[in-house]
Amino acid sequence: MTKHILLLHGPNLNLLGTRQPELYGGMTLPEINSAAERHIARHDVALRTAQSNHEGELIDLLHDARGWAHGVVFNPGAYTHTSIALRDAIVAIELPVIEVHISNVHGRESFRHKSMLAGVCLGQIAGFGWHSYLLALDALLRRWELLRD
Ligand code: DQA
Repeated sequence: MTKHILLLHGPNLNLLGTRQPELYGGMTLPEINSAAERHIARHDVALRTAQSNHEGELIDLLHDARGWAHGVVFNPGAYTHTSIALRDAIVAIELPVIEVHISNVHGRESFRHKSMLAGVCLGQIAGFGWHSYLLALDALLRRWELLRD
């Protein structure tokens, strides 16, 4: 049975490629989404991608995913550090969610060290540039035993 994944990007990530490239790299969001598509292409997995700058819309997208997705790869951007509402949404949807960051949030300002979300996610991947997304996809594939070793 095909596994469906929501690849969800939060605020300011629509600006990837031009936003602080020294920190977030030169890949645009469409390029990252395409790389993610290519990464899972040989598996029986389908990706849907979405981006929003709005907390409520991200919550709506998570709620909607409950109806069709088997897992979520989520870069919540700065809402990571502030949003109890997104935390509650992640708990409510009862799907495995992997928190992703392009930068190593733990090596940056202290306000980025705290995640409101990581504790209710399957895990957190941070600091590997856009490859963080691919590592998160691999983590879901492993959970579903579509990847071994
Ligand atoms: C980020 C890290 C967040 O602290 C920041 O607010 C972002 C991007 C990352 O991918 O490294 O917008 O989530």
